[in-house]
Amino acid sequence: MLLQLLSVLWEALSLQVILVFLATFLLVADYKKQIRPRNYPPGPMLLPLLGNMLHVDFKKPHISLQKLTEKYGNVYSLQVGSMRFVVVNGLHLVKEALVHQGENFVDRPSSPGIQGIYGSSGLVFSNGLIWKQQRRFALSTLRNFGMGKRSLEERIQEESRYLNEAIEAEKGQPFDPQSQINNAVSNIICSITFGDRFDYHDSRFHKLLHLLDEACHIQGSFWSVLYDVFPTVMKHLPGPHQTLFKKWGQVKSFVREIIEKHKEDWNPSEPRDFIDAYLNEMAKEDAPSSFHEESLLQSTLDLFSSGTESTSTTLRWALLYMAIYPEIQAKVQAEIDSVIGQSRQPAVDDRDSMPYTNAVVHEIQRISNIVPANSPRMTTKDTTLAGFHIPKGTIMFANLTSVLFDKDEWETPNEFNPGHFLENDQFMKREAFLPFSAGKRACLGEQLARTELFLFFTALIQKFTFQAPKNETLSREFRVGLVLSPLPYRICAFSR
Ligand code: HEM
Repeated sequence: MLLQLLSVLWEALSLQVILVFLATFLLVADYKKQIRPRNYPPGPMLLPLLGNMLHVDFKKPHISLQKLTEKYGNVYSLQVGSMRFVVVNGLHLVKEALVHQGENFVDRPSSPGIQGIYGSSGLVFSNGLIWKQQRRFALSTLRNFGMGKRSLEERIQEESRYLNEAIEAEKGQPFDPQSQINNAVSNIICSITFGDRFDYHDSRFHKLLHLLDEACHIQGSFWSVLYDVFPTVMKHLPGPHQTLFKKWGQVKSFVREIIEKHKEDWNPSEPRDFIDAYLNEMAKEDAPSSFHEESLLQSTLDLFSSGTESTSTTLRWALLYMAIYPEIQAKVQAEIDSVIGQSRQPAVDDRDSMPYTNAVVHEIQRISNIVPANSPRMTTKDTTLAGFHIPKGTIMFANLTSVLFDKDEWETPNEFNPGHFLENDQFMKREAFLPFSAGKRACLGEQLARTELFLFFTALIQKFTFQAPKNETLSREFRVGLVLSPLPYRICAFSR
């Protein structure tokens, strides 16, 4: 009896000892991770295990990042779990990091989430030689297919006609324009990469765009952060992160099917699109090492996803702002009527004669701020920025919000004011206009996006007046994801 009692007591004690030992071990290990290197940028106090997780509101992270600048200055540090970040703010330092010291910050970081979705091939999350080869090839191929037999401009003009028809069909009744805009914009990158566009009533394509939208939303959410910080635990817990890989997997399968179909009727002497050109590159005897099946899939997927979400989200913001500011919409329409009229479609050459419309498109991009903290970068070596030491392998966010809303650069940073881009009624470029980021790793689709935005936007405002539905107020509230998008809204499009 006594022996039994002693044995139970011993077991309970040893369990307690093990737990205390484990907790001490975790705290010591965590404390070690929290020791900041010498001359490292300042930042808020770190909490055990969580780091600075509670210092960032993940429903509006860009606003938290802005607030932290007030206390810690233009270069500060954060830590979430064991991931160390440095946040760089203000036009001067963002350009210093992205352009003047561009080589030091050119890499992208990896994480369990990023590995699961992108791996390390393709365009967006590859590094080093792989990235250089993939980016060079993608840029030159996009150029070839943009300038080819059927110019990109004609392609966008044609798609604009389809989009206008689809909006006309709403007959001035309230509707959510997301699906039509998404489809139209996606069709442009689809014709370049897949060689074809999709009908607006194609239910399979609808489903795909919906999946992409959801995947981008979850990927930019707190769940994705939790997964990156505690992957071994999160793998076994329910939550939206569980569906993230599944959704990306479905988008990937769609692209994989298109690639397989291309292989069946591929004619090396007549490449029709990005996929054909890539197959040609892979078939070369001296093909660079990074050109293989997996990277064909990933690069195509990267172009498809980046080329769809960002531009269509900006256009959704554009219609929202036009309905909220009818007097600005009326001025754009007056300029369209005097320069283009109603009988022909807008063309890229019109842009130079339309300073007001051009300024409005720029202001929409500035204020909608769709990639608020830029895509993450990582230092390629030990680096000094603004006198601070940033060790190799540190994640860096060039906070684009701090540039697009910089009080020293913009007269009325928080107001929608096309005047930011006008001087004596002429269009004026602004150095702090960096929605596409800057330097060697800036947006690869900038030219394409700018052409699409001008042509789609001008064609829409030429044909329609956008208004809030009766008794409904339009909100400028946003939804956080891979891009910052407006909350779903309804709008009326009245034919002019
Ligand atoms: C309004 C539209 C767009 C905006 C605001 C935008 C913005 C951005 C930003 C901020 C980055 C990160 C750059 C950096 O790390 O410094 C980026 C990267 C990228 N964008 Fe865009 N983008 C837009 C449209 C497009 C389009 C249409 C394409 C399609 C070709 C595209 C393809 C890419 C790719 C492939 C990257 C990764 C580049 C790399 O890592 O080398 N983007 N974009």
